[in-house]
Amino acid sequence: MTSHAVKKPLSSRRTGALGGSARIPGDKSISHRSVLFGGIASGRTSITGLLEGEDVLNSIAAIRAFGAVARKQDDAWLIDGVGNGALLAPREALDFGNSGTGCRLFMGLLGTYDFTSSFVGDPSLSGRPMNRVLDPLRLMGCQVVSQAEGGRLPITLHGAREANPIVYRVPVPSAQVKSAVLLAGLNAPGITTVIEPVMTRDHTEKMLKGFGAQIAVETDPAGVRTISLSGQGSLSGQPIAVPGDPSSAAFPIVAALIAPGSDITVLNMLMNPARTGLILTLQEMGGDIHILATRNEGGEEVADLRIRHSELTGVAVPPERAPSMIDEYPVLAVAAAFAKGETLMQGLDELRVKESDRLAAVARGLEANQVPCEEGPDWLRVTGRPDGKGLGGGTVRTHLDHRIAMAFLVMGLASEKPVSVDDASPIATSFPEFEGLMTALGAQFGA
Ligand code: S3P
Repeated sequence: MTSHAVKKPLSSRRTGALGGSARIPGDKSISHRSVLFGGIASGRTSITGLLEGEDVLNSIAAIRAFGAVARKQDDAWLIDGVGNGALLAPREALDFGNSGTGCRLFMGLLGTYDFTSSFVGDPSLSGRPMNRVLDPLRLMGCQVVSQAEGGRLPITLHGAREANPIVYRVPVPSAQVKSAVLLAGLNAPGITTVIEPVMTRDHTEKMLKGFGAQIAVETDPAGVRTISLSGQGSLSGQPIAVPGDPSSAAFPIVAALIAPGSDITVLNMLMNPARTGLILTLQEMGGDIHILATRNEGGEEVADLRIRHSELTGVAVPPERAPSMIDEYPVLAVAAAFAKGETLMQGLDELRVKESDRLAAVARGLEANQVPCEEGPDWLRVTGRPDGKGLGGGTVRTHLDHRIAMAFLVMGLASEKPVSVDDASPIATSFPEFEGLMTALGAQFGA
């Protein structure tokens, strides 16, 4: 399900200081997992703060397709799950729209069931690599019945009668791959082990434990994590409060840092250290970001953050920080465009296979708006202009990528000339409230 069949051009312009406070919508990663785990658990899961973006709505449709019941009552989503091991075969192909997370997690989950399931998506998702999930699934006995060239969607799977639990070392730093293997392990007898040399977001491990799975995580002195899951156990429905998404908060945060005179507060943001690399980087650049009222909610740390306009200075972002801010590089590149000197971002290979080739999309967008930058195979160097003079005036191609659209709309709030994007409709996949929330803080958008 996608609403972006019709393109929506949008532009933003410099309007001065941003002010006020904004509550950040639910975290996308936790929202997908709440729906999916609720769908396979026994009993009821009630979710407040669920992100109602297109990506998550597609996950809701997918759990309904395997027999779970999901409905909204007041401000909570109520999910009655089918019970681990008791999923029904979906009757039609599951359409994940733009969502790599939805598609890969559900492939893992369904790939150890002795039935056929098919997966489709929009043109962006259909171009993304799926072998990273198909490879471990094959080791578990799953048959890839059909696929487009190079392990692309549309894909049809048929799981083994009895799946093999495996020990799998993830070859790329990817929470989606880690999660797909663990979810496949839920329906395999014995212990499925994932070895993760570089830590990625740990929501799957944490939340599965909360749902009652037998799962253990060990970390060796080098930081290599071994996650062991005992398959075919029972999961029980849980109440879940989804915290605000740091990857969405990134846009008002950077907007306030670069728009002179700004002083805003973002409320209820998830502070899981596997997700806060951008905050650390912006603070290193001299960003005035004050972390207020830290508290623990449902096993995750959340906080309110006060952000004031700041004179930023370019930095070299260490490559090992990439997994903790992987979705934030487009908007970091925009912050870098307003920083004194150069910002170097490294270790970005994975950006090439996101909703778009984000490294190329960011570089072309910066060039179109007069920001000097240099693009390498897995790095980007940006030279900033703190007063924004001469910047802007271009139109950015968003390539069905919500984060490219939002990042460049943020840029236009501080550049001398307006910035346009050719298509803002993909913003609805992750942050449908973006325009309204930013407008309430003082941003101005126009067609
Ligand atoms: C996600 C993991 C990341 C991230 C994506 C959400 C998740 O992808 O880019 O937006 O929820 O597991 P990879 O695991 O492919 O790095």
